[in-house]
Amino acid sequence: MLRFETAGESHGECLVATLTGLPASVPISVAQVNRELWRRQQGFGRGGRMKIETDQVEIVSGVRHSITIGSPVAMIIRNKDWKNWSNILPVEGEGDGDRKPVTKPRPGHADLAGGIKYDFMDARYILERASARETTSRVAVGALCKQFLAQFGIGVLSHVVQVGTAQLEREATWQELEGLHSREEVLLNCVDGETEQRMKEVIDVAYRTGDTVGGVFEVVARGVPVGLGSHIAWDTRLDGRLAQAIVSMQAVKGVEVGSAREQAREYGSKVQDTIHYDKEEKRFHRGSNKAGGLEGGITNGSDIYVRGLLKPISTLRRPLESVDLTTRESTAAAYERSDIAVVPAAGVIGEAMVAIVLAQALLEKFGGDSLRETKRNYDHYIEQVRNY
Ligand SMILES: Cc1cc2nc3c(=O)[nH]c(=O)nc-3n(C[C@H](O)[C@H](O)[C@H](O)COP(=O)(O)O)c2cc1C
Repeated sequence: MLRFETAGESHGECLVATLTGLPASVPISVAQVNRELWRRQQGFGRGGRMKIETDQVEIVSGVRHSITIGSPVAMIIRNKDWKNWSNILPVEGEGDGDRKPVTKPRPGHADLAGGIKYDFMDARYILERASARETTSRVAVGALCKQFLAQFGIGVLSHVVQVGTAQLEREATWQELEGLHSREEVLLNCVDGETEQRMKEVIDVAYRTGDTVGGVFEVVARGVPVGLGSHIAWDTRLDGRLAQAIVSMQAVKGVEVGSAREQAREYGSKVQDTIHYDKEEKRFHRGSNKAGGLEGGITNGSDIYVRGLLKPISTLRRPLESVDLTTRESTAAAYERSDIAVVPAAGVIGEAMVAIVLAQALLEKFGGDSLRETKRNYDHYIEQVRNY
């Protein structure tokens, strides 16, 4: 089983991630991990924090001479801002700085529910971990999974399809997504320049008015073989597992597989992907891909399409009403340096989550201790599928 864990606080020493179960001999590039970390920090609408941090991974176990060796991969990403917080959040003692307590919980954050649950009057201890800074670790893990998936010709990319009311009105091609992935400057990671400008204008309004906006990102996975996941039980269905992975992301409140929202409005005759057979090439193909590459919780060989629906960022420069935990009086919610819109970054995190779930499903089906063994199992299965 491929499993990962993350640890670390937003203003702590570092973010940590471990990934256990990758086969031995998977080629690993640290530069590719750093590239993904960089992509997570981009996008118009980010706050001051992302200007402080330039995330770089340190792989401290599990990879030697640029390949995995089968042991758990452990990674650290240091927080540059730690030097300003070591006195505020020391591991031992009180420190001699202001503890920056958060006693005015912010609506839409874990501040109040977490404070009550963990019995703290200072929501600082809650928000430090609830923060989406945690997704740095996920992206590092996802970057390893992407490198593993690439060995099987599987690619995972994303783009932004909506920011507030500004929406992309057409589909994006794989080539366009590859173009976005190699860009050195990221505005909103949208394939259409005119739509991207409209998205920027929505964020400009939020900047001016002390507000925030959400949106929708789409993750596409190409090259996924037919037969990952299974219809046999609720927790083996790959659509459900992808949905859980996407909604586990901070601020993601909805998920869409294929064109689900459109399908809910249509008649059945309009939404199923018809089945065809090419007798010369001896292979099945589909008339469309509205299912987003998944039927009955099983991959069907078409590209996988998953969207994440983000609510607007919860911390507002024009704070909403709250209650002070110490005085119990009404007050404006706390303000902590904050992003205004994060849809492109969320897309990068979504890619990581999809890559992790696909790598897990692939290893469940073809698992081996070495890449060679896994590839052998994969090749035999592909041969079986060809002869079906
Ligand atoms: C990439 C990314 C960056 C985020 N940055 C912020 C931020 O700067 N300020 C903020 O209030 N929320 C931010 N959020 C959202 C919060 O982390 C999230 O809303 C909060 O943890 C509560 O969780 P929930 O919205 O999933 O219920 C961000 C989310 C993502 C995905």
